[in-house]
Amino acid sequence: MHIHRLERLWLTFGVVSLVVFLAILATAAISEGIVPPSHRQTIDPTKVAETPPFDKPGLRPVPGSTNEFEAYVIARYPFFTPHEIDVPVGAKVTFFVTSPDVVHGFFITGTDVNMMVVPGWVSSETHVFRARGQHLLLCNEYCGVEHHFMYGAVMVR
Ligand code: CUA
Repeated sequence: MHIHRLERLWLTFGVVSLVVFLAILATAAISEGIVPPSHRQTIDPTKVAETPPFDKPGLRPVPGSTNEFEAYVIARYPFFTPHEIDVPVGAKVTFFVTSPDVVHGFFITGTDVNMMVVPGWVSSETHVFRARGQHLLLCNEYCGVEHHFMYGAVMVR
């Protein structure tokens, strides 16, 4: 079978592009530790308030570390609990967020923390706060008529 030279060139370009795109996806997924939902932490959404550590939401230091923290946050329509999180400058904070009602968003402005919060699952992401200042915390998934009131703040002091 004869394939025209330009057609062969175009086919090669297509196949090479596909391989490059798949390699980029695989590299990003592996380096970022992206896992399917089956590998994520689950929680009974009807018992969030009495399930440790979500029974006492807030920031707590990681034992044995001076600048590492874990923040447990409940996204419940139309509020985040806690509403404001105080973080010392330079802190490495891992956020654990869950929802007892509907799907919410968890976006911290000026950072790459941007998660979907799904009832029954615990979403988590880590960020190092290197500069003092205030970051707005927003729900960026429409969750009801008071969705636009669902915000908070991360204060880096
Ligand atoms: Cu919660 Cu929008």
